Amino acid sequence: MRNGTIPEEVIRAVLKHHDIVDVVSKYVHLTKHGKYMKGLCPFHSEKTPSFTVTPEKQIFYCYGCGAGGHAIKFVMEMEGYTFPEAVRHMAEEANIAFRWNESAEEQTAEQMERAELLKAHELSAKWFHYLLKNTDYGKPAMNYLKSRGFTDKLIDAFQIGYAPPTWDTLAQFLDKREFSMPLMERGGLISARNDGSGYVDRFRNRIMFPICDAKGRVVAFAGRVLDDGQPKYLNSPETMLFNKSRSLYNYHQARAAIRKTRKIVLFEGYVDVIKAWEAGVENGVATMGTSLTEQHAELMKRNADEIVVCYDGDNAGQSAARKSLDILERAGCRVSVAIIPHKMDPDEYISANGAERFVRDVVEQAVPAVKFKLVYLSKNFAMNESDGKLRYIHEALKVIAGLPSPTEREHYLKELSSETDYSLDALKQELYQIRQHMQKIRRTGDNKEIPWNNVMNDGKAYVPAPALLPAYHNAERNLLAGMMHSREIALYVEQQLGGQFNVDVHAALAAYLYAFYAEGNEPDVSTFISTLQNGRLESVASSISLLDPDPAMDKRVIDDYIREIKKYPRQMEIERKKEEIVRAERSGDVLHAAQIASEIIALERQLKAL
Ligand code: UTP
Ligand code: MN
Repeated sequence: MRNGTIPEEVIRAVLKHHDIVDVVSKYVHLTKHGKYMKGLCPFHSEKTPSFTVTPEKQIFYCYGCGAGGHAIKFVMEMEGYTFPEAVRHMAEEANIAFRWNESAEEQTAEQMERAELLKAHELSAKWFHYLLKNTDYGKPAMNYLKSRGFTDKLIDAFQIGYAPPTWDTLAQFLDKREFSMPLMERGGLISARNDGSGYVDRFRNRIMFPICDAKGRVVAFAGRVLDDGQPKYLNSPETMLFNKSRSLYNYHQARAAIRKTRKIVLFEGYVDVIKAWEAGVENGVATMGTSLTEQHAELMKRNADEIVVCYDGDNAGQSAARKSLDILERAGCRVSVAIIPHKMDPDEYISANGAERFVRDVVEQAVPAVKFKLVYLSKNFAMNESDGKLRYIHEALKVIAGLPSPTEREHYLKELSSETDYSLDALKQELYQIRQHMQKIRRTGDNKEIPWNNVMNDGKAYVPAPALLPAYHNAERNLLAGMMHSREIALYVEQQLGGQFNVDVHAALAAYLYAFYAEGNEPDVSTFISTLQNGRLESVASSISLLDPDPAMDKRVIDDYIREIKKYPRQMEIERKKEEIVRAERSGDVLHAAQIASEIIALERQLKAL
C-alpha cells in the first residue's frame, strides 16, 4: 500500500458514512439500554457486558478493558489493520473516492525493504514455476516430479518450480528489474561472488518449493536436488521475511481446513505435506528442516484443539516425534500420534498403499500421546530380562501417573499389567507412591523437577474430579446445544432469557449465538465455533456441541431449562437473605429481620411463578 497522509475530508466522510452501531454490530451483538447499546466486549473476554456504544457520540467504550474510540479505531482493532488500511477498507465499502496527500509521511526504510523483497520472492516464484512448466530447461525436473507422482494440479497448487543450473540467471533477472542486489543477497535469493565481481544464484538446478507466510505471500524457498546430491534440501536463510522457528510449511493453505476440523496434522517433510494434501488431508503442515519449537507449538495451539503428529516411521522420525510431543504438550496441546509402519515416511506410504488407506489406517488411527510414549518407552528396555522389565514398568508408571483422569490411569494400568504379567494391585500400589511423590514436589512448588511428565504442567492433573454439575449448569449446556443446532430455539431463548445465563462462558456463547443467527447464518456448529476466536470459548463450545441434541427438545423441555436457569440467582438471593435474617436477629434488629422476611416471601412467590 502506498504511504502518505490521508486527507481530513476522507476520514470525515468515512466516519459520517459508517454509523458506529452498524460497524460494531457486524461483530458484537448489541442490545439497547436507554442512550447506550451494550454487548460483550470483543477485546477482552468477559461475562457480563461492559462494552458500550453511544450512537449519539458515535463512539464505543469498554468499562472492562478501557478500549474505546470511533468506528475506524474499532475496525482497526477488530481486523488488525493500520489506520490507513482501515480507512481504505471502509472508504471502499462506502464508495468514497480514496486518495492520498502526496507529501508522503515516509514509509520507514525497513518497510520499503520488506516490500521490495516480497516482490522479488513473488516474481522469482512465478519465474521458477514458469521455467518448470514451459521450458526445455525444466524438462528433467518435470520428469523427476512426474516419476514421484506429482500431478499438474499439485504442481500448480503448491506453485512448485525449477531453478536452472546456470550461474546467475535469477540474479540477472532481478537486476534487470532494478531490485537492489545487496538486498536480494540479504534476502537469500542470490550470493555475492567471492571475488566481489557480482552475484550468483543461490539455488541452482533444484526443484523449488515456495514457502509462504500466513497470508500466503512467498517469503522463502526450499530447493531439492534431482539426484542424491547434498544437501538434499537447500533452504532460504533466516531473513527479515522468514523466521524458521515460527513458520510452518503450507500453513496458509491449511488454515481453512484447520478452522473446520480444529485439528492440525504435523509432518516432517515438504513432500509429505503435499502428498497428504492430495490424499485429502488438507490440514497438514510441516516444520522446515528444523525441529519443532515452542513458537510453532504456540501457533498451533492458538488455532487447533488437537495436533496429530505424523512423522517418518523410522527411528529418527519416531524419536523426533517423541521430542515434539513434549513441546506440544507443554504448550497445552492435545496430541496424538499417527504411526506409519515399515519405517516408511508418509509420502512412501501413500505411494505404496494409496490415499484412502493413508487416511483410514494411519491418520484416523492416531493413538493418544500416552499410548505412543508407552510404546516408545518399551522399545528402550530389554523386556526379556527381569531387570529391564522392572525399569520399564517404573518409567511407564511415571507416564501413567501424569494422566489427569482416573479412568484413563486405570485403563493404561490394566494394559501394563497384561503386557508385563505383574498384578494390577502391585502396579496400583507403586502408582500411588509415585503420585504421592509428585504431589509432594508440587506442593513445595518445585514442579520443574518432574522432567518425565508434561501432562502435569497444565496444572490440571490434581484438580479433583468435578462434582456432579448443578442442575442449572446442565440446563444451560443443553439449551446451548439446542441453540447451536436450531435457529428457532436460539431466537426463542433470546426472547425468554437473553443474557441471563449463570455461567459466564455460557452467557458469552449465547451472545455469540444470537449474533451468529442475527447475521443470517444457518445453524452450523463448526462455522459458529470458528467465529469465536477465543480459546476458552472455543473449547467450551466444542464440548457442548458434542452433546447430542435432544430430539425431543420441544417447547416444554426448553421452558423447563429456562426456568431452571432463572431459578438459580433467585435461590441464591434467598439464601443470602436468610443469612441476613440470622445476623439481624442476632444483633436484635427485629424490624430489619421482619423486612427481610417479607422480601424473602416476595422472592419465593417469584420463584413459584416462573
Ligand atoms: P527427509 O530427508 O525425510 O526428506 O527430510 P523427505 O521429506 O522425505 O524428502 P524427499 O521425499 O526425499 O524429497 C525431512 C525434511 O527435513 C528437511 C526438509 O524440510 C525435509 O522435507 N531437510 C531435509 C532439510 O531441510 N534439508 C535437508 O538436507 C534434508
Ligand atoms: Mn520422503
